[in-house]
Amino acid sequence: MNLTLKIWRQSDAKSQGKIVEYPISGIEGDMSFLEMLDVLNEELITKGEEPVVFDHDCREGICGACSLQINGEPHGPDRLVTTCQLHMRKFNDGDTIFIEPFRAKAFPVVKDLMVDRSAFDRIQHAGGYISVNTSGNTIDANAIPVNKDNADDAFAAATCIGCGACVAACKNASAMLFTSAKVSQYALLPQGQVEATDRVMAMVNQMDEEGFGNCTNTGACEIECPKGISLENIARMNREYMKASIKG
Ligand code: SF4
Ligand code: FES
Repeated sequence: MNLTLKIWRQSDAKSQGKIVEYPISGIEGDMSFLEMLDVLNEELITKGEEPVVFDHDCREGICGACSLQINGEPHGPDRLVTTCQLHMRKFNDGDTIFIEPFRAKAFPVVKDLMVDRSAFDRIQHAGGYISVNTSGNTIDANAIPVNKDNADDAFAAATCIGCGACVAACKNASAMLFTSAKVSQYALLPQGQVEATDRVMAMVNQMDEEGFGNCTNTGACEIECPKGISLENIARMNREYMKASIKG
């Protein structure tokens, strides 16, 4: 395939960025999107030009690092896949592909296509944990019965990889899908009840402090989420928040 890439280049957080055009040829359908960018970067390095900076780690759809806005969609045109799992067979010979970083005030651009998503870490640190007594009298986890539906829903919520596509897809740059997945994975389990009140208050407050917008039920986050995290988690977080507010 021969393609035209239009890529966002920005030297640092303070500089003004711009779209730069790069023609690329010899791209195979079986290549991943990131492998296609590797080919471009090898060509740029050979020519003595600066390679395009983009985030990646596992390249297996599990770390959430690869955050690219491809033709206006977080993680591109495929569904339930991350950018690293997107294959070039989803594109056609002669296509022009726009590649930009995830856009949100709370995700400032570090360089080119790499953004700083440490705001997510701070939300997680605010309450995304449980306290377990490890002083020798711990209860075996299997000794606590968990309703099967709750276990399944908690597990589904826990598959969130913190990629930020939900924020990039949202017209309000809301982080409600991410935060609600992190709240839900504990709210549905007995082990999560001890800190439930403090957790939801702290995580929602941190989310607001970071500058993410609110949810207005558009649902774009759920469509673009590579892990299929359900909007039901947002409804659950709102209920948890209301309960916590009443308790004080
Ligand atoms: S909810 Fe989905 S889109 Fe949002 S951070 Fe988690 S995995 Fe990514
Ligand atoms: S590089 Fe880890 S999810 Fe894409």
